[in-house]
Amino acid sequence: MPFRACFLYIRSMSTHAALKEAFEQAGQGHVFRFWDRLIEEEREALCAQAAQIDLSEIDRLVKELVFGDDAHGIDLSDLEPAPFIPLPQNGGNDAEWSKARQLGEEALQAGRVAAFVVAGGQGTRLGFDGPKGTYPVTPVRKHSLFQVFAEKIKAASDRYGKTIPWFIMTSNLNYEPTVRFFEQHAYFGLDEDSVHFFQQGLMPAVDYDGKILLETPGRIAMTPDGHGGALRALVRSGAVAKMEESGIDVLSYFQVDNPLVKCIDPAFIGFHLQANSEMSSKMLPKRHSKEKLGHFCIQRDKTVIVEYSDMPDELAEATDENGTLRYLAGSIAIHTMSRDFIKRMGGNDTATSLPFHRADKKILTVTDEGHPMQPESPNGVKFEMFVFDALPFAKQPVILETAREDDFSPVKNAEGADSPQTCKEDQLREFTRWLKAAGVEIETDGTGLPAVTFEISPLFADSETTFVDAWSKLANPPAISEGLVIE
Ligand code: UTP
Repeated sequence: MPFRACFLYIRSMSTHAALKEAFEQAGQGHVFRFWDRLIEEEREALCAQAAQIDLSEIDRLVKELVFGDDAHGIDLSDLEPAPFIPLPQNGGNDAEWSKARQLGEEALQAGRVAAFVVAGGQGTRLGFDGPKGTYPVTPVRKHSLFQVFAEKIKAASDRYGKTIPWFIMTSNLNYEPTVRFFEQHAYFGLDEDSVHFFQQGLMPAVDYDGKILLETPGRIAMTPDGHGGALRALVRSGAVAKMEESGIDVLSYFQVDNPLVKCIDPAFIGFHLQANSEMSSKMLPKRHSKEKLGHFCIQRDKTVIVEYSDMPDELAEATDENGTLRYLAGSIAIHTMSRDFIKRMGGNDTATSLPFHRADKKILTVTDEGHPMQPESPNGVKFEMFVFDALPFAKQPVILETAREDDFSPVKNAEGADSPQTCKEDQLREFTRWLKAAGVEIETDGTGLPAVTFEISPLFADSETTFVDAWSKLANPPAISEGLVIE
């Protein structure tokens, strides 16, 4: 045997022996059951994967979340609706909003803000082949979600005279294609050095007997650890250190599936800073009690989000004397976070570690003979952290109302609610409102949907105010017609 192969062989045998023993003691020895038929590189890779698994953590999670009585148990005691700051048109104070906006703008001009998108999800409901951020989402040009965000971030950087760095979290599965997509599109006009990609952590998936699943005979089925994994990934990847080096202390967090999001919202940033908040959130009044948005609640002086699926009907449907839902505030996964909070939450202190949740999924695995098996129904459990579980740890959390039509229309499902079709229509309605605000007449149906499909580039305008201003400066404004792109 050549020297290197011999060295690898001896090393993998001793690592393997120690790992195998540890896994056997933890009741997970089956992970090595195909060892004899693996080639040396596969053995090395399997040992490397196995060495990263915290067996006592898996044991605890299996007991709690796979077998435990409280597999789906959530503490619902002492819940109260969480207060929020309303929009000016809904009773908020105009002067306070203006002051907050100005404060946010000053922070942007001082270069204190970075954008952050979590893009590590698998997008199974949408069923799109590729990272979700590459999904062609705009009505005419079919620009990708990533391009929409990039152009919004560029527009804000230009407006405030400071480059806004952009952190992008992927999973191990979609890291390469995501980076390649940005390279192929020349970073959509952003400075390459201002875009920072990093990968979130992984957790092994288990079957309903609590056994770690193999994806192939030589590979453990590792799955992304949820958007809550963002906090530790921001620390471990060096993103927080980069923020520190460049004087950034505010992170604007959004999800990859929502092209309407104001990636950079000065008023939101301003309210966050003014309150000395560590983590702030945007809310929408729920359309109805069953709308699939988490509920902002207060529980023993802490702000928490209770998922819609965990909220008992009697609470979700409760109304006040005006017939308004008591638990009105729905979460749309848009947050502002302070750097020091991320550092505290993403470190190794178990007192601040986020809980894991159970997600039942179809997990590619192998048969007893080692043949690939693609299940048709969920065959196991993934462990995921949720970013909103950080809220109870945050000091002075602010909850700010936003206008749905200007901030939220996610692409989650292939069809029906929150689908490419509803998102396209919501983009068209937003563009139409901007045109109307600029005094342009445009025919719409009763929902504000225009008769023609057109598009406004975020580089032309990214809000009603900026649109009205840019439109007024056009020497020859175009007629609004099918396929028009205003850029
Ligand atoms: P979703 O909860 O919609 O999950 O993610 P998903 O994986 O994208 O889609 P489905 O459930 O398989 O259909 C909400 C946001 O959190 C990110 C997603 O990329 C999306 O921006 N996310 C989710 C991560 O970054 N990592 C994860 O492990 C999970």
